Amino acid sequence: MYELTINQLSHAEFLSQYWQKLPLLIKGGFTDFEDPIEPEELAGLAMEESIESRLITNHKNDWQSYHGPFEDFSKLTEQHSTLLVQAVDHWHPIAAQLLEPFRFIPNWRIDDLMVSYSTPHGGVGPHLDQYDVFIIQGQGKRHWRVGLPDVNLKQFAQNKSLLQVEQFDATIDAVLEPGDILYIPPGCPHEGYALENALNYSVGFRAPDQKDFLSGFADHLIDSEKGLTRYSDPTLSIRDSKGELTAQEIVQIQTLMQDALNDPEQLKHWLGAMLSQPKHDMDLAPLDPPLSTQDLATYVSANEVIERAGGVRAMYQVLPASIVISVNGENYSLAAKHLESVKLLTDLPHFSGSEIEDSLNCIEFAQMLTKLFNEGTYFLQEDD
Ligand code: SIN
Ligand code: CO
Repeated sequence: MYELTINQLSHAEFLSQYWQKLPLLIKGGFTDFEDPIEPEELAGLAMEESIESRLITNHKNDWQSYHGPFEDFSKLTEQHSTLLVQAVDHWHPIAAQLLEPFRFIPNWRIDDLMVSYSTPHGGVGPHLDQYDVFIIQGQGKRHWRVGLPDVNLKQFAQNKSLLQVEQFDATIDAVLEPGDILYIPPGCPHEGYALENALNYSVGFRAPDQKDFLSGFADHLIDSEKGLTRYSDPTLSIRDSKGELTAQEIVQIQTLMQDALNDPEQLKHWLGAMLSQPKHDMDLAPLDPPLSTQDLATYVSANEVIERAGGVRAMYQVLPASIVISVNGENYSLAAKHLESVKLLTDLPHFSGSEIEDSLNCIEFAQMLTKLFNEGTYFLQEDD
């Protein structure tokens, strides 16, 4: 298990002083850091069709970008190259452990763990990200520069799939060693070049924008055949100008649109399903043979440890008389009395079966947990 220390700061102090505000160098964020993955394993993932990967080279300042899957690594040259693999937490349970120390930030804000392997002088060049990121230094060393947001900084495409930013002044200029971490808020320019073969782990966050939410909600209305209340004007009266769309009509249209959002139950079910959707199909291990609800209590004998699989997105919302828990895009409605059990399933990476004993006796909870075990999103920890 990785234990994070953020300089002398508590989690609460980090959030109030740095989160979404200022970049921070966290020297020795993890002490005695051990890489959860080997470069060879990372290369193996980059050969898979279903895994998103990129290779970037910068020989003599000529930036080239190649998309995976890769059949060979001839482009991963001894110098000036970087291999990047997205959502490694979905595919590599041990690497997924690296997300856990950052779960003082809510589950739904966490996006994925991206892992890069760079050879000396390799990097992706100066750029901005739209999202918060913690970059953890694994094996090797890398020289990083980070600046503050600057609206005058111009972005440009080095080539059609590599957006960079012009040179910037750095407020952090440091060589990262294993276990060091950089926190970079959205919009802060940064660049990092390996000094020796280096692994880096990026814990990335997500923050959907208005169009993501609105288009997602519109899709939901279409799928569920809701949002069918039509504009109406039974009090329409004669007016001088027929060409005008009046301010009052605009308000009425706005209200009609807002009314679609004003059903809290529907909104919460949709949000749960949308925000818990996994980033990619997951490599889960379904139970074989499947478990039946009747056998659940025996299966989870009180002292067993229940674990959530790496990369699973789990969250809950409290409704006036019930709870909706959302796991990998599926919603389950439960009675309010299951709140403590639901917190264990969503707040913690693992917990003991004895802690949910009361809920196991309830059919709706038992049916949900049986399904979660059967699909492999939750599983019993194996004895060492
Ligand atoms: C990298 O690991 O090379 C890229 C991380 C980043 O700058 O976002
Ligand atoms: Co970046």
